[in-house]
Amino acid sequence: MKKTLMATALATIGAASALMADPADIPLVIEGEEMISSVKAPDYIPGLDTAYSGWLFRSEETQALEIDDFENPGMPAVDYGLELWSTADGSEGKSCADCHGDISEMAGVRTTMPKVNENGELWAMEEYINNCRVNRMGAEAWKRIKSPEMLAMTAAIGLQSRGMPMNVAIDGPAEPFWKLGEELYYTRVGQLNMSCANCHEDNYGNMIRADHLSQGQINGFPTYRLKWGGLGSIHRRFKGCMKNIRAEPYKPGGPEFLALELYVASRGNGLSVETPAVRN
Ligand code: HEC
Ligand code: HEC
Repeated sequence: MKKTLMATALATIGAASALMADPADIPLVIEGEEMISSVKAPDYIPGLDTAYSGWLFRSEETQALEIDDFENPGMPAVDYGLELWSTADGSEGKSCADCHGDISEMAGVRTTMPKVNENGELWAMEEYINNCRVNRMGAEAWKRIKSPEMLAMTAAIGLQSRGMPMNVAIDGPAEPFWKLGEELYYTRVGQLNMSCANCHEDNYGNMIRADHLSQGQINGFPTYRLKWGGLGSIHRRFKGCMKNIRAEPYKPGGPEFLALELYVASRGNGLSVETPAVRN
């Protein structure tokens, strides 16, 4: 049973290198600023020579949406995030801006997420935001994956780092989390018995059904997905990929997805933040 399903899945992955020019030859310029969309992969990722932005694997129509902020369908959510930034909420009557000042002060923050907090826990952007809401504002936590507020805020904060290279730490206190993430990335799961690496390392550049497989990088998140008709978070995408191989997804915000997020982010260290990216 397992073998047959996996054979079927792999049979649908067809070579299609002809469709892909050398991705490094196509510059990604957003609003006049050139992004680093391909970069020598870090030494600790022996399975990749070059890290490529997912943008390079999309159709011209989808690519066009990301390079112009007026066309980018993720921008209205960014505007909502900017509005929330200066809106007071919770029992303390404070807004993000009251403590952090202008949102441009958040430049660079996205490049280091997820990271280990002062209590030794691995937190992504969402955990930092909810910690401020609950413990500093006396407001309710926003739901981790589908809350429009959380998506808008992570997009607005992420945009402040657009163009800056991803730079997550993988050593020191981050090391055990990174190791767990690496292990999960290469572990075959689900009825199709596949790992993330089977698609995003062994087969990027090939077609799977009608989709052009990328390296599954996360430098553009939260990403506007045409299929979702809205922004989606990293953990929602991870969940979708696990469901596609008929595996029981880990919990969004749980230790496995956080570790996987750190590891996947590190595979793209050096790629520019593209938030909010646009994907099909
Ligand atoms: C009462 C003051 C206060 C409020 C209000 C507040 N924060 Fe914070 N926030 C802090 C402090 C203090 C830290 C930890 C020190 C730091 O990194 O600036 C922090 C850290 C963060 C971080 C992590 C930054 C980093 O570099 O690690 C993010 C992201 C963040 N806050 C987002 C928000 C958002 C979004 C809001 C509004 C929903 C908000 N904060 C509201 C005080 C506040
Ligand atoms: C059966 C093949 C397959 C497997 C296994 C798989 N994915 Fe994917 N993944 C896809 C396809 C197809 C897409 C959409 C096209 C693309 O960007 O590659 C995608 C997209 C993504 C994206 C979005 C990339 C972007 O540029 O926005 C991320 C992130 C991702 N996958 C992570 C993972 C992770 C983490 C795992 C392991 C838990 C995984 N995937 C397992 C097929 C797979």
